Amino acid sequence: MKLRPLLLASCLALGCAQPVRFADRAILWRDPDEGPTPFFKRHNPSINWSGARDAIFLPADHFFGADYFHEADNVNALDELPDSSWWQDRRRDPAAPAARPRALTDEIVNGAFHPEDQPVPPFTIVNGKPIGATPGFIVEDSRHQRYAFKLDPKGRKGFVTSTELVASRLGWAAGYLVPGETLLDVRRDQLEVSPNAHAKGPLGKRVPFTRGDLDAMLSRCADNADGSYRAIASVWIPGRSVGWFHYFGRDRRDLNDRILHEDRRDLRGFGVWAAWVNDIDVFDNNTLDSYVGEPDRGHILHYQQDVGGSFGNFAAAPAAYWMSEEIALSPVRIIGSFLTLGALPRRWDGQRWRDRVEALDARWPELGPFEAERFEPRAWRPMLDNPAFVRQTKRDRYWGAKLVLAVSAPELRAAVGTGRYSTGTSERLFDVLWRRREKIGRAYLSEVAPLDYFRVRADRLCFDDLWVDQGFGGDGGTTYVARERGAGQVVVDHRCVTLPPSGGYQVIELRVIRPGERKPGPAVRVHLVEDAGQPRRIVGIER
Ligand SMILES: Nc1ncnc2c1ncn2[C@@H]1O[C@H](COP(=O)(O)OP(=O)(O)OP(=O)(O)O)[C@@H](O)[C@H]1O
Ligand SMILES: [Mg+2]
Repeated sequence: MKLRPLLLASCLALGCAQPVRFADRAILWRDPDEGPTPFFKRHNPSINWSGARDAIFLPADHFFGADYFHEADNVNALDELPDSSWWQDRRRDPAAPAARPRALTDEIVNGAFHPEDQPVPPFTIVNGKPIGATPGFIVEDSRHQRYAFKLDPKGRKGFVTSTELVASRLGWAAGYLVPGETLLDVRRDQLEVSPNAHAKGPLGKRVPFTRGDLDAMLSRCADNADGSYRAIASVWIPGRSVGWFHYFGRDRRDLNDRILHEDRRDLRGFGVWAAWVNDIDVFDNNTLDSYVGEPDRGHILHYQQDVGGSFGNFAAAPAAYWMSEEIALSPVRIIGSFLTLGALPRRWDGQRWRDRVEALDARWPELGPFEAERFEPRAWRPMLDNPAFVRQTKRDRYWGAKLVLAVSAPELRAAVGTGRYSTGTSERLFDVLWRRREKIGRAYLSEVAPLDYFRVRADRLCFDDLWVDQGFGGDGGTTYVARERGAGQVVVDHRCVTLPPSGGYQVIELRVIRPGERKPGPAVRVHLVEDAGQPRRIVGIER
């Protein structure tokens, strides 16, 4: 019979129950993605092909697939990210995982590097680097531990080595898996070349790597006053290499790889981090999947193997004036320029822009052209469109901004301090990163209600206001408006909501009005459950 009108009528007369969006269950803080999976080896396409595919075919796929605005799939009920084989929150207190992130001021100095992994000379070069523009080779130290060594180009000590070291400390603090890295000074007499050493020659052919090749390479590298060479040693990633991962799709052979990579928040949010440090070299070939454990009983860990294309460095040369402004191959731009006969303006057009980039590079040779003034988080572009980055939503950007903002001034100083820069350069790098950090915060904390770290204290729901806490303004003049869904306005006092009795499921919606604003901003909804004998608890957060 007419059940629906009847239901509607009784609903209107008696008041409808709150729709239950989140189940009353434990929050997921660990994604169970380290189950046994068979070992396999990937045949990665050449970087030219995968670059063209990302530039030409995948955005089309994105466009025609109409998958814009799709939220990330691997978030928990609090809109946070569980730890996984892709990302691990180093700031999370296991006893209070939803609380404020903890400081890493001491840990950031070593990041992923364990001091016992400090390479011990002499070093045997076992191979050239399999790919890449940066001078370097693969070595084994006297204990047979393997490393990739990379060096600086002549006249630019620190440009490659310190950049990668500092960026990798920051990448580690942000939760990404990076190899352990350290700086060292290597003398020529500490290097031997194995008779079996090979390198990739022209056209990708395997050619022997000889002492002559080593000397020719070293003659193009920066050296110290005593003739030694500054190197970054990258501890060989443990496990067996599977190949690079791709920022699009998933690999069905890996039984743990259940979420499309472009829909992973960790990979989308990596774009916010990359913009911060200007890591424009975020191609697949700077990632590495490594199989750990017994064959067929192990699992894959997903690394950001090389974050060294950061600050002003791209492939061991100063980033060109247009880089980070525009992707290298943009079909939309090309067609647009063609149709408008080149009339589409770009802000990097013209000599003044180029002069400035050159002047920055000349002034700061250890950093290259890296600055905060012209940085606009939303306009920043890596070298090629990244399928995960282009799918970011404001929730992903907020999450990514929190990774960046979690780095305090003392942490940033400690990380920059590991780069062994000259004093002026350390200050400059700190200053640029600090100001870019603030720009990211202001851009992405204003897209959502930046109220966070909700906690229930008896009948009060208290929260932090990240905007005010970051010193972005509004301290004192900010007002919070709260209402209980299905009921009405509730009182907020000192960033705490007085919770009305609920007797079950309750949703509190909060909005922020900053000084000088008339209308409240976007809402954040906190879902709570209360039942007999159990304290009230948060079961979900909607942003
Ligand atoms: N710590 C490591 N563990 C395992 N493999 C490594 C490590 N470091 C480098 N490699 C291997 O060496 C390759 C080149 O290294 P890397 O990306 O650091 O060099 P690069 O010159 O910066 O490359 P590009 O300029 O193309 O980014 C990597 O693709 C990877 O296969
Ligand atoms: Mg690389």
